[in-house]
Amino acid sequence: MGISRPIVVVSLFSALLLLSSMAASAMEETFVECLLDNSHPSHPISDAIFTPRNPSYSSVLQSSIRNLRFNETFTLKPFLIVTALHPSHIQAAIVCAKRDDIQMKIRSGGHDYEGLSYVSAVPFFVLDMFNLRDIDVDVSTETAWVQSGATLGELYYRISEKSKVHGFPGGVCPTVGVGGHFGGGGYGNMMRKFGLTVDNIVDAYFIDVHGRLLDRKSMGEDIFWAIRGGGAASFGVVLAYKINLIRIPETVTVFRVEKTLEDNATDIVDQWQHVASKLPNDLFIRLVIDVVNSSTQANRKTVRVTFLSLFLGDSKRLISIMTENIPTLNLSQSDCIETTWIRSVLFWTNIAIDSQTDVLLNRTPSLVYLKRKSDYVKEPIPRAGLELIWQRMIELQVPQLVFNPYGGKMAEIASTATPFPHRAGHLWKIQYVTNWNQGGVEAANHYIGLTRKLYGYMTPFVSKNPREAFLNYRDIDLGVNHNGRLSYVEGRAYGIKYFKGNFNRLVHVKTKVDPSNFFRNEQSIPTLPH
Ligand SMILES: Cc1cc2nc3c(=O)[nH]c(=O)nc-3n(C[C@H](O)[C@H](O)[C@H](O)COP(=O)(O)OP(=O)(O)OC[C@H]3O[C@@H](n4cnc5c(N)ncnc54)[C@H](O)[C@@H]3O)c2cc1C
Ligand SMILES: *[C@@H]1O[C@H](CO)[C@@H](O)[C@H](O)[C@H]1NC(C)=O
Ligand SMILES: *[C@@H]1O[C@H](CO)[C@@H](O)[C@H](O)[C@H]1NC(C)=O
Ligand SMILES: *[C@@H]1O[C@H](CO)[C@@H](O)[C@H](O)[C@H]1NC(C)=O
Ligand SMILES: *[C@@H]1O[C@H](CO)[C@@H](O)[C@H](O)[C@H]1NC(C)=O
Repeated sequence: MGISRPIVVVSLFSALLLLSSMAASAMEETFVECLLDNSHPSHPISDAIFTPRNPSYSSVLQSSIRNLRFNETFTLKPFLIVTALHPSHIQAAIVCAKRDDIQMKIRSGGHDYEGLSYVSAVPFFVLDMFNLRDIDVDVSTETAWVQSGATLGELYYRISEKSKVHGFPGGVCPTVGVGGHFGGGGYGNMMRKFGLTVDNIVDAYFIDVHGRLLDRKSMGEDIFWAIRGGGAASFGVVLAYKINLIRIPETVTVFRVEKTLEDNATDIVDQWQHVASKLPNDLFIRLVIDVVNSSTQANRKTVRVTFLSLFLGDSKRLISIMTENIPTLNLSQSDCIETTWIRSVLFWTNIAIDSQTDVLLNRTPSLVYLKRKSDYVKEPIPRAGLELIWQRMIELQVPQLVFNPYGGKMAEIASTATPFPHRAGHLWKIQYVTNWNQGGVEAANHYIGLTRKLYGYMTPFVSKNPREAFLNYRDIDLGVNHNGRLSYVEGRAYGIKYFKGNFNRLVHVKTKVDPSNFFRNEQSIPTLPH
């Protein structure tokens, strides 16, 4: 008698498991049938379908996981991956998933900090864009078409192959994917001169909820506005963007100078914060702030500030600007490296500056477990505030803080021109950077907890009502829907932080073009409440 109960429980449990796996495989079977029925005979989709039974499934899934937190055995995996080889495969994936109301995740470079492009709490499949990465640079019109599956490194390399005086103002990390980066309002170290990626997009190919392939003219200005910074995944699948190339001088100058508290770093940061957003637009100076061992006092920690810069000009002019505006840094000729723009990309991403530039075609970065958050600063931080922040950082030892100055072109573009709202009046953006090297929930909770603590300490010094955040620094602490279906109220919580007043227009566009909310994820744009 005593042993019969556990047996009943066990067999009930396995029956449930069996039932749910039968349901999953039935869903998979009808979905695959639909994909095959909807694919064009000259572009068969079968080569693009990977189920967990396919020996390449794991390597395809892992090939674009960029946060090891989502490479754990307990991470929920897609029941299928479609590695689209042709636009018709995207169309088939949308039509079939909509028919069966299956959750789709769209992945280009996989750099989403919260893994939203390849993780889900409900059964789902991944539409992976990495095969669709053609880049067509036309120097005569100073434009390029770039498909979503390309990386920034591939784009920069292809531009530099054709021209020494053209570039593009995108992100600093070469392995980031064009699809997520452009759709989320990506920025880089030329934003003070040229604005964001989205300020330099002039057309797009886009596939909507009905599977229609549209360009700017046929999609209309509402969708075209929304997919330039609103997070394209709420609206459809972007196949390619057309961009304007920007003109850069043949010689640019970079420097990286480190100062600790013992070197009077606080004085320099204080000077920086009053001028960084007002410097000539050719000059961008990022601060990377972390905690290191003191070199003067044994067993003591100190704060180190790394001043990392790109100047679109020569070192002579740079030094004169720096001497006038940030004399406390005492920048000298020996700190400066004159180089080409494409090599400045290597320097900024810590690749030896004299490497072959085709290292930019390498799609795999070194991987860590990570958490990121963001903030905006609109008034200089009082000196006592800086000192308090340093003290807190030394207590916690992680995270690092990265300050990216705004102003220049960023302040000239209207905050409603694109969904990205953080324009005039923003001095700099803060990124909280926490990396670690052990798997498991305990380590993750520990490091995420430290990141939230520092974010809490920063409250007095950053934007309020709303506390603004950058969409491309995805942070699910800002709110998330838990049932796989977005409510308007849940969506508004993070939507206002990412988009401020532009959230309302995004909701209207969403309600018009995808009323059944097929294109959804944990932080997508909700439809209007009925
Ligand atoms: C190492 C590193 C460095 C970074 N540096 C910068 C930087 O310098 N500047 C900056 O602005 N950001 C930076 N980021 C953030 C980065 O811009 C975002 O994570 C961006 O969304 C990544 O794009 P992806 O295609 O690689 O990501 P994915 O994870 O593939 O996608 C991100 C989001 O976009 C959606 N999406 C992807 N492709 C499409 C598509 N074709 N159509 C519709 N929706 C799509 C996904 O569903 C997901 O919601 C960095 C991130 C990392 C990990
Ligand atoms: C991701 O997980 C798989 C399976 O556990 C493992 O084989 C692989 O090495 C992991 N990737 C990295 C970069 O750690
Ligand atoms: C730091 O500032 C103090 C006071 O202004 C000055 O005496 C000292 O020389 C400075 N140290 C460095 C390394 O510049
Ligand atoms: C910093 O100091 C600690 C001891 O206080 C030591 O264990 C550690 O290795 C040092 N780190 C570096 C990078 O030197
Ligand atoms: C400024 O830099 C020069 C070297 O270029 C050095 O000789 C001088 O001591 C520095 N001054 C300060 C105050 O650090």
